[in-house]
Amino acid sequence: MRTSCALLAIAASAAALPGGHKPKPQPDADGKYTLTAPGIRAQFIPYAATLTNLFVKDKNGVETDIVLGYDNTSYYPVDPGHPVYNAIPGRYVNRIGNGTYSIDGVTYHTEKNDGPNTLHSGTNNWSFRVWNVTDVTSSSITFSIHDPSNSSLGMIGDVDASVTYSVSKNKWSIVIDAISPQKKTPLMLTQHTYFQLDAFKNPANRTIWNHTLYAPAAKRALVADQNALPTGEIANITKNSIDDFWTAPHKLGFKSSDPGFENHCGNGCHGYNGALAFDNKRNKKDVALTLSSAFSGIKAELTTDQDAVVLYTCNWNDGKTEFKSTQGVAGQDKFIPRDGCIAIEAQDYVDGINHPEWGRLDEQITGPGDKYHWASSWEFGTI
Ligand SMILES: *[C@@H]1O[C@H](CO)[C@@H](O)[C@H](O)[C@H]1NC(C)=O
Ligand SMILES: *[C@@H]1O[C@H](CO)[C@@H](O)[C@H](O)[C@H]1NC(C)=O
Ligand SMILES: *[C@@H]1O[C@H](CO)[C@@H](O)[C@H](O)[C@H]1NC(C)=O
Ligand SMILES: *[C@@H]1O[C@H](CO)[C@@H](O)[C@H](O)[C@H]1NC(C)=O
Ligand SMILES: *[C@@H]1O[C@H](CO)[C@@H](O)[C@H](O)[C@H]1NC(C)=O
Ligand SMILES: *[C@@H]1O[C@H](CO)[C@@H](O)[C@H](O)[C@H]1NC(C)=O
Ligand SMILES: *[C@@H]1O[C@H](CO)[C@@H](O)[C@H](O)[C@H]1NC(C)=O
Ligand SMILES: *[C@@H]1O[C@H](CO)[C@@H](O)[C@H](O)[C@H]1NC(C)=O
Repeated sequence: MRTSCALLAIAASAAALPGGHKPKPQPDADGKYTLTAPGIRAQFIPYAATLTNLFVKDKNGVETDIVLGYDNTSYYPVDPGHPVYNAIPGRYVNRIGNGTYSIDGVTYHTEKNDGPNTLHSGTNNWSFRVWNVTDVTSSSITFSIHDPSNSSLGMIGDVDASVTYSVSKNKWSIVIDAISPQKKTPLMLTQHTYFQLDAFKNPANRTIWNHTLYAPAAKRALVADQNALPTGEIANITKNSIDDFWTAPHKLGFKSSDPGFENHCGNGCHGYNGALAFDNKRNKKDVALTLSSAFSGIKAELTTDQDAVVLYTCNWNDGKTEFKSTQGVAGQDKFIPRDGCIAIEAQDYVDGINHPEWGRLDEQITGPGDKYHWASSWEFGTI
């Protein structure tokens, strides 16, 4: 049976075969798997379960690569900056205060790789590993990871996780599932994509400040300290304050001349690198957030089952990293400026394992018998 399928696959190339056998899509010479559907083309590599390219149509119908990344897929594992380009960090994303947490009276210490805190579970986090490809078709791919106990310092108990990326007309869907069969462990995941809806083609400006954001349910913000660690306070976002993207759509730079904008995301960090919490009563089938840009005319609508979102407007870009050959304008330099992108990470409340008063422990600690599930999708169109 297996032999005849293989022979048929060779004979029939990419066409569907009688009996439902289709040749399994193979990666290209760069190791990228390509998924396609009307209006969308997405490419992935197993390293960190990374989205390398995402092509959608701009207002003129031109295919535009709207995410950050490298042309050279061999560079992702060696990049010293490791911005987690469009990858799945884990098993507990964002920060753990003081690299410490407790479960059932036992205190665990995690790696302090971000000042006094842990970021994305430390230096052996999931965005540093080559995931297995466990299923692939022309419109869907599943990557899997087995994360042994304590392989990231202080993360106890094995975890098995998978992410399935799929495309359908103008839409990219992401589903993450995980189990921790042995122990209760912190488990909080996200998909960490950096967007630039103009693909750096705007000759007037490559910053993200003229992109517009609207998140009608993001009415509260997790107040954070100088290291971007939540203090525990959750503040209501008032109309026209810096974090206000809920009372009306605003440009990301709408408060850039406000004195509070300068260190809004920590010392030396202007703009955004914090978490907004969605209204608990929102309908999770509604669009949670829309990012758009008048220049390209592209809009991206996020639907998610998560209760918060982290926004990071690329303050720490040093202007020395090039964007991809699929981006920019011929004849101009290729450098990503400071503030040149935005990462949008749907997830649970940052450091909720250290804030039992928030009531997030059920969401953030997964133990034997529990199933962790995360689902989001991005739908693309023009404004
Ligand atoms: C791609 O990156 C790898 C790792 O840094 C490097 O060895 C290789 O020379 C690069 N290839 C090209 C074509 O730049
Ligand atoms: C911070 O972590 C250290 C171990 O890295 C621990 O000794 C100390 O008690 C922790 N402090 C707090 C306030 O949790
Ligand atoms: C993963 O660990 C590396 C090394 O500490 C760190 O640079 C990175 O920020 C961590 N998380 C991400 C974003 O991959
Ligand atoms: C990939 O699968 C192999 C064989 O089952 C396993 O040994 C390896 O740990 C897996 N890799 C990851 C990243 O989980
Ligand atoms: C986790 O590994 C570290 C060494 O990397 C070790 O010191 C620590 O005791 C281990 N923790 C547990 C709970 O096994
Ligand atoms: C883009 O706009 C920012 C903010 O207004 C400004 O600081 C920067 O110089 C502009 N860059 C270019 C290339 O015009
Ligand atoms: C944003 O767009 C406005 C209107 O087109 C323009 O005047 C301004 O220079 C742009 N600013 C940036 C930072 O791109
Ligand atoms: C935030 O607003 C809600 C009503 O929307 C109110 O009940 C609550 O007291 C406010 N919290 C703070 C800290 O002002």
